[in-house]
Amino acid sequence: MPRTDEPFALVILGASGDLTRRKLVPALWSLYAGRTLPEPFAIIGSARSEASADEFRRRMRATVREFARVKPPSENVWDRFASALSYVPGDPADPALYAKLEAALREMEGARPGPANRLLYCATPPSLYETIIGNLGASGLARPQGGWTRIIVEKPFGRDYESARALNRQLGAVFREEQIYRIDHYLGKETVQNLLVLRFANTIFEPLWNRNHVAEVQITVAEALGVETRGTYYEEAGALRDMMQNHLLQLLCLLAMEPPVTFDAGPVHDEKNKVMHAIRPIDPRKIDEVALRGQYGPGFVEGKAVVGYRQEKGVAPDSRTDTYAALRLLVDNWRWAGVPFYLRTGKRMAKRVSEIAIRFHRTPHMIFHRDPSGVEPNELVIRIQPDEGMALTVAAKTPGPELKLGTVGLDFRYGEVFGAEPPEAYERLLLDAVHGDSTLYARADWVEHAWSLLGPVLDAWAQDSAAQPYRYEAGSWGPAEADAFISRDGGAWRKP
Ligand code: BG6
Repeated sequence: MPRTDEPFALVILGASGDLTRRKLVPALWSLYAGRTLPEPFAIIGSARSEASADEFRRRMRATVREFARVKPPSENVWDRFASALSYVPGDPADPALYAKLEAALREMEGARPGPANRLLYCATPPSLYETIIGNLGASGLARPQGGWTRIIVEKPFGRDYESARALNRQLGAVFREEQIYRIDHYLGKETVQNLLVLRFANTIFEPLWNRNHVAEVQITVAEALGVETRGTYYEEAGALRDMMQNHLLQLLCLLAMEPPVTFDAGPVHDEKNKVMHAIRPIDPRKIDEVALRGQYGPGFVEGKAVVGYRQEKGVAPDSRTDTYAALRLLVDNWRWAGVPFYLRTGKRMAKRVSEIAIRFHRTPHMIFHRDPSGVEPNELVIRIQPDEGMALTVAAKTPGPELKLGTVGLDFRYGEVFGAEPPEAYERLLLDAVHGDSTLYARADWVEHAWSLLGPVLDAWAQDSAAQPYRYEAGSWGPAEADAFISRDGGAWRKP
């Protein structure tokens, strides 16, 4: 990541929340320690609770020690970073807060050379977005003040098509589209970016990347974690809203899109949108053919006994929230017609693993075996996390006098090849926002389209008459019914 020296100030609204603690400040610190954060910079945290700048710095120091990729190397370096941190307490609903923020920004900007570049980060619960956006507009904070002003909006971006549209409209009334950065942290993951490099910086894959060669695609984002402390949020969300509408559909679009003319925001967003347009709309009368939901019961994850979802804090004892969701989507265009895309995500699954698996057709005629089913078709697996890398399986002759075939993997592991630990997604994305590059962010129309695609499923699952989610044991690969769901096409879920 190139280092540029353009001063900026970041205002984090929601600075006492989990996101600031676990992701934002650790990412900013790692960038700073890696000498990639433009300087001079200032970070203003803001939240309701009263605290002094020193208290905020102390809290952030503990946070960085716990969560940052790069640990503080010395007090000296930390002190320099910490001197850029300040704290402005206040209620986001109170216009007085925005006057205080403006004054704090002006003071900092007056004390250093360079333009007033401002990045505003909305890291509060989404119920506050409307109020915050309104106040940013009314106070004048949304308007550039001689430099650039940008806003990053965290997910969830709405909870359905209507609310996402309303949020886009509110944002659009106050900011121009090029000021708005809708974050999806999956797009900042190294291996997700590598998917694009794999596709568009090599010639050998592109000729195979279509229905003539690909039989099926499986996208899996499995988590071993449960809902942790977020039961109340999760009850309102569920796996389809929390993961599928954003992370998994983004992966599908990057995998399926046509080559953009350049790797810039406009062309990349246009190509992703074309995929969204090509996904076959879900027929409300045939939801069960396209979507399946599950909910974890008690079980064992990584050797530890864990409670079921309904026993989690903040969860209703008769909750119907989906902690597992699977979709079967078709992309109706020349490249992908007839190729099923299976997407699944779940909490409390056997292990944490995110991957994209592309299964190719079987050989048209197998000359080595009377029974061709003994030979697995080629498969390309892109491992997003953990153990980032990719593997291609090919058939090979096993050693010995007989001509017997086996499947071997050509395996590439990031850690082994490049050694260095990849940066966290938030590092990349924060830096991109500072540099004004929204390629790895979500555009308004994409977000709305993703919600509208899933609308029929969300509606069907919200009905009182809908069947209960299928149960699966915590620590398993999801409900047994998911196997029947995929086997209709003759396939089976991978066990990564
Ligand atoms: C978030 C979801 O967007 O992604 C969480 O809200 C989920 O529920 C998280 O745990 C997973 O992210 P990662 O980077 O750990 O795969």
